[in-house]
Amino acid sequence: MSRSTAVLFLLLLPLILFFPYYASPFPDRFLLPALPPSIEPQQYLDPTLPPFLPPTAISFCSISALNHSFANTYGLPPATANFLLPASCPPPWSRVVLDLSVSCHGDQYDRIAAIWIDGAEILRTSTAEPTASGVFWTVRKDITRYSSILRRPGGVNLSMMMENIVDEVYTGIYKTNVSLEFYPDSDEDDDDDESDLDDEQVKLIPLLDDPADVILPVSSQNSSSGFWFRIQNQSESHFSRIKIPQNTFRAVLEVYHSFHSNDEFWYSNPPDAYIKENNLTTERGNGAFREIFATIDGRFAGVILPFPVIFAGGINPLFWSPVVAIGAFDLPSYNLDLSPFLELLLDGEYHSIGFGVTDGISFCLVDANLHLWLDSYSETVTAKLVRYESPPLSVARTNKFLHLNGTFKIDAERKIHFSGWLNSSMGNLTTDVNQKVKFKSSVEFQNDGNYKAVHLKSKFKTEVKIKNSEDVILSRFSHKFKYPLMVLTETLPGMNNTYKLTTNLTHTLYEGAAFFMLEKLITSKILSDKQEASGWMEVQDHSVLSGSARSQQVYQYLDGEKCYKRDLKAEDGMLLDDSVSNACSLAF
Ligand SMILES: *[C@@H]1O[C@H](CO)[C@@H](O)[C@H](O)[C@H]1NC(C)=O
Ligand SMILES: *[C@@H]1O[C@H](CO)[C@@H](O)[C@H](O)[C@H]1NC(C)=O
Ligand SMILES: *[C@@H]1O[C@H](CO)[C@@H](O)[C@H](O)[C@H]1NC(C)=O
Ligand SMILES: *[C@@H]1O[C@H](CO)[C@@H](O)[C@H](O)[C@H]1NC(C)=O
Ligand SMILES: *[C@@H]1O[C@H](CO)[C@@H](O)[C@H](O)[C@H]1NC(C)=O
Ligand SMILES: *[C@@H]1O[C@H](CO)[C@@H](O)[C@H](O)[C@H]1NC(C)=O
Ligand SMILES: *[C@@H]1O[C@H](CO)[C@@H](O)[C@H](O)[C@H]1NC(C)=O
Ligand SMILES: *[C@@H]1O[C@H](CO)[C@@H](O)[C@H](O)[C@H]1NC(C)=O
Ligand SMILES: *[C@@H]1O[C@H](CO)[C@@H](O)[C@H](O)[C@H]1NC(C)=O
Ligand SMILES: *[C@@H]1O[C@H](CO)[C@@H](O)[C@H](O)[C@H]1NC(C)=O
Ligand SMILES: *[C@@H]1O[C@H](CO)[C@@H](O)[C@H](O)[C@H]1NC(C)=O
Repeated sequence: MSRSTAVLFLLLLPLILFFPYYASPFPDRFLLPALPPSIEPQQYLDPTLPPFLPPTAISFCSISALNHSFANTYGLPPATANFLLPASCPPPWSRVVLDLSVSCHGDQYDRIAAIWIDGAEILRTSTAEPTASGVFWTVRKDITRYSSILRRPGGVNLSMMMENIVDEVYTGIYKTNVSLEFYPDSDEDDDDDESDLDDEQVKLIPLLDDPADVILPVSSQNSSSGFWFRIQNQSESHFSRIKIPQNTFRAVLEVYHSFHSNDEFWYSNPPDAYIKENNLTTERGNGAFREIFATIDGRFAGVILPFPVIFAGGINPLFWSPVVAIGAFDLPSYNLDLSPFLELLLDGEYHSIGFGVTDGISFCLVDANLHLWLDSYSETVTAKLVRYESPPLSVARTNKFLHLNGTFKIDAERKIHFSGWLNSSMGNLTTDVNQKVKFKSSVEFQNDGNYKAVHLKSKFKTEVKIKNSEDVILSRFSHKFKYPLMVLTETLPGMNNTYKLTTNLTHTLYEGAAFFMLEKLITSKILSDKQEASGWMEVQDHSVLSGSARSQQVYQYLDGEKCYKRDLKAEDGMLLDDSVSNACSLAF
């Protein structure tokens, strides 16, 4: 079975740029061809672990925070709603869940969106591409870690931004409902024993999931264009000025980002020399390496290696119907432990926290939340940065090409070690942060550019140790990411100026985290989310004439208590299999 409805996919500036015909095996952005109109609205999905709800929480409060239709919203400020917490739902909460429901019908590109609370981002999401009969989906995200911003007594402003274009061709209006669910904390004796300070020394070190006391948005002050920063090139950096409480003893910067326009498929971009020598008109260049770094007062403070999220119109839109690409509905955020740098921030003054994108071209949307934990027994914490080892990125690039045939390889590595002590009521603790980044990419063109192979291997590891003044490691937290990606695309010229793109894709997100106290394992988790897709589409000028695709996905999550596995299979827009089990084939 194949889809055979010709639908226009037109140039939509500034988000899309064309490739000349002969360079079209580049991953590009396409509009999903419409399904026959008789079909019912279809549910789209992106498997994730359902929020873990307290078993005793029979009654919870649900607040409808925002209902909004994103029609022709390009250039408009975010939709905003002020809401107060219902008195019947006082903090503390054991869980808070964000529920976003979206529906759309017509023709439309995928769009990027975000939700902020008082300028702090709580969700980065993108949309499915609609069909004439309609699509809908729901994102449920555990947002308990943002509890401190939700419990502000005067109420909070929730904003959602989604830049959409609606006209005669693009008719899809994204209708959204945002609600929040608050689950009461039934276990009230949790906080009773805090006075017993000595015994609690180790316990006071915040556990993996303990929400911060204060969250400061590191985002754009000009909310009329969204709270995110738009980073257009590698020399551009954006920052926010923030002042932190002087009794902060732990600081974690949570970074959100997404790549768009010329950098949407950054992992497949060739170097500029290839584009120039072949007289290509594309601006998708600057090679296939990207890295997002954070700065404090202009000083490098850590780095993240981005997981390549593929949006629903990307590469071959038939791949992402009805199961979207990994993370497309809930893009990952990344944590950087800035505790070793507290010396620079604890003086009661304003400081700049900023971002840049190594090798970035237009554009990347970045912002962050600074999560802060406060010493409740002391008004000031003193700190000192004692080790700052941040050698420059070591990168080797091999570029070999003859006309449109070529092989481009990048090997990059970085090792970072920051260490700082801080004196608080918990004693004199030293935080050691180690980061290791390993990046390997190969972009290959054969057959005069009509065959393109993209191979990406990113590895990214962070280890945080907290030691006391006797050098005993009180706690240790290790977090690893691995993101292998392979995209093979063949272009065959057809009759009448048509061409056929055949693509094979394999994409995986591996994440492993472990938390130890006094070298005893306290919690650990593994996530493995693997997607494979293959198919073809026939394209003429700007129209998808026909195509066929199949995909399969295995999502597995394992921690000390549970395993959650979900298998999905789809073909030509139909979900053939969706089964949930607890038979994980993962091991620590
Ligand atoms: C959203 O719509 C529902 C159903 O009409 C309504 O109950 C709810 O109050 C609305 N929420 C907001 C924030 O307007
Ligand atoms: C939003 O809520 C209203 C009222 O419950 C419902 O009719 C509508 O279908 C919802 N929209 C979405 C996108 O879920
Ligand atoms: C929320 O929005 C209102 C009106 O737009 C504004 O007056 C208020 O300062 C905002 N509150 C916060 C906490 O940003
Ligand atoms: C804020 O952003 C809007 C939209 O991009 C722009 O028109 C306006 O000039 C900006 N304002 C400031 C103060 O930068
Ligand atoms: C980077 O982008 C900024 C903002 O668009 C621009 O002013 C600047 O000239 C650009 N720099 C380079 C090197 O392209
Ligand atoms: C690119 O354009 C230049 C100048 O027009 C021309 O000399 C050269 O042969 C062209 N190269 C290719 C590969 O078409
Ligand atoms: C360390 O912090 C504690 C509690 O804040 C304080 O009482 C003590 O004087 C500090 N020690 C030093 C050497 O500053
Ligand atoms: C490019 O490679 C193909 C084989 O993949 C070969 O047939 C073709 O001649 C090569 N083109 C050039 C200009 O070398
Ligand atoms: C904390 O410990 C470090 C070494 O572990 C030491 O150099 C520093 O002086 C201590 N700070 C305080 C305030 O005692
Ligand atoms: C995709 O995989 C199939 C089966 O392994 C293979 O026959 C085909 O050549 C591959 N296509 C591309 C574009 O690599
Ligand atoms: C080629 O395209 C033209 C215009 O789109 C159409 O009229 C013609 O029938 C097509 N020819 C073939 C062989 O498909």
